[in-house]
Amino acid sequence: MKRVFGVFGDPIAHSLSPAMHNAAFSALGMDCVYHAFRVKPEKLEKAILGAEAMGFGGLNLTVPLKEAALKLECIKPDRLAEKIGAVNTIVFKENGKIKGYNTDGSGAKKALQESAVEMRGSKVVLAGAGGAARAIAFQLAADGAEITIINRTEARAIELAKEISAAAFPGKAEGRGLSGLKAMLQDADVLINTTTLGMHPNTETTIATAEELHSDLTVFDIVYNPLETRLLKEAKASGAKTVSGVSMLVYQGAEAFRLWTGIEPPVELMKKTVLEAFKA
Ligand code: ATR
Repeated sequence: MKRVFGVFGDPIAHSLSPAMHNAAFSALGMDCVYHAFRVKPEKLEKAILGAEAMGFGGLNLTVPLKEAALKLECIKPDRLAEKIGAVNTIVFKENGKIKGYNTDGSGAKKALQESAVEMRGSKVVLAGAGGAARAIAFQLAADGAEITIINRTEARAIELAKEISAAAFPGKAEGRGLSGLKAMLQDADVLINTTTLGMHPNTETTIATAEELHSDLTVFDIVYNPLETRLLKEAKASGAKTVSGVSMLVYQGAEAFRLWTGIEPPVELMKKTVLEAFKA
């Protein structure tokens, strides 16, 4: 019988996850289907338990459910998801346990590794202090990066850096405001944007211009709408390497796929499918 997987969220109609995962299942000849379900936060627990009762193969959670999931008694989060404070992947174990993971951070890490960026000891300037920044910051700290978190509201950056330091990961973190970015980037290896700057419809906004960047940097923008943000254009103009948000989207999905099935997914095909879905 067909195995059902799904993503819960609200809104969910424009999710690219069904196209990406269904392409992977079909390429691997797996009798599985992945569907998007609109679920409100107050119905999340019922929906998860219902999916478990119906023998679903696994779930993803997206906005606005990732943080709510961590508060549910039925989910046992792993250490990283607990620290991040959000769950985006649910695995139904054979013993009836429901485990929660967060693959956003590892998706970002794989996207950077694809560009030959090593985490241990690398100096990362991470712009933003929201949910995505949390996932990436905890993962990078766990992998030994030195992180400067910069945010419009400086207090949020300082608070996140404090939480990371308290978690006793090998990496280090400090929090600052947005001013003095050029000097901060001078001896940095990586700039990651997790703010909403540059995101449709504000496509002309950017956290940094070419003048503030340099050719030894890797610039990673997790914004994927538009595919090439103003920041990535500025980065190219400065000679920096670029990593697009689509890579993170695909790698977080690929990591979820591995957790559910134990099978290596066809990542290149998933990326191609997402890019085609954008053009459509
Ligand atoms: P997510 O959970 O998707 O990461 P979020 O929690 O809404 O999103 O965070 C959005 C991030 O973009 C925040 O870091 C926000 O900065 P503040 O904490 O100061 O609000 C940042 N951001 C949004 N608009 C911005 C702007 N115009 N200039 C600079 N930063 C901005």
